[in-house]
Amino acid sequence: MKPYSESCEENKDVILKIIQPLLLEKKSLLEIGSGTGQHAIHFAQAMPHIQWHTSDRYEALAGIQMWINEYQVNGKLRNLHSPILLDVAQKHWPELIVDAIFTANTLHIMHWDEVQNLFENISELLTDDGILLIYGPFNYHGQYTSDSNARFDVWLKSRDPESSIRDFSALTVLAESNGFKLFADYEMPANNRLLCWKK
Ligand SMILES: C[S@@+](CC[C@H](N)C(=O)[O-])C[C@H]1O[C@@H](n2cnc3c(N)ncnc32)[C@H](O)[C@@H]1O
Repeated sequence: MKPYSESCEENKDVILKIIQPLLLEKKSLLEIGSGTGQHAIHFAQAMPHIQWHTSDRYEALAGIQMWINEYQVNGKLRNLHSPILLDVAQKHWPELIVDAIFTANTLHIMHWDEVQNLFENISELLTDDGILLIYGPFNYHGQYTSDSNARFDVWLKSRDPESSIRDFSALTVLAESNGFKLFADYEMPANNRLLCWKK
């Protein structure tokens, strides 16, 4: 059965509103952890000038492909590409060059060593003017930004003790040590943020 995420339907328009102007000049994008594929459908439709490459771990690929198949009837959405197998923990990353990378709601699911691996590898895929856009909940100065994020973190850790809402400062250190500079940090609904980095 085709997977479905209610939260994607709720946040896709607010995310699009912020990322669309940032991606006006961009031509190709890799989405990491595409999940169901609903974001990719929505964003690829709204930004036909971008070749949108979906990716995720093996278990998510079939679901993403189901969404793509449904929307690609009659040759529409030619800019939306079948999912690439990419677990950010893997040693060898796909040979792809893009000028943007987007990922939503993934850093708190990934283990910290996977987040580190992500930052260590993405530079190779990005052109010199490339940007990295990361949506999700984050902590600031070691503090939750809301009670609901604190409860969410307890739930995350009960599922997997190595999952956790990531701290903005730790991400900044990691990003800077891998050649990225923050250029925007947008407040988003439901205590989420959109962090924007350039190479
Ligand atoms: C909460 S879902 C978010 C999915 C989608 N981006 C969204 O916003 O609805 C987390 C996603 O991260 C992916 N993920 C978790 N660990 C990963 C890893 N090590 N490498 C790549 N993707 C990973 C999962 O497979 C899942 O699709």
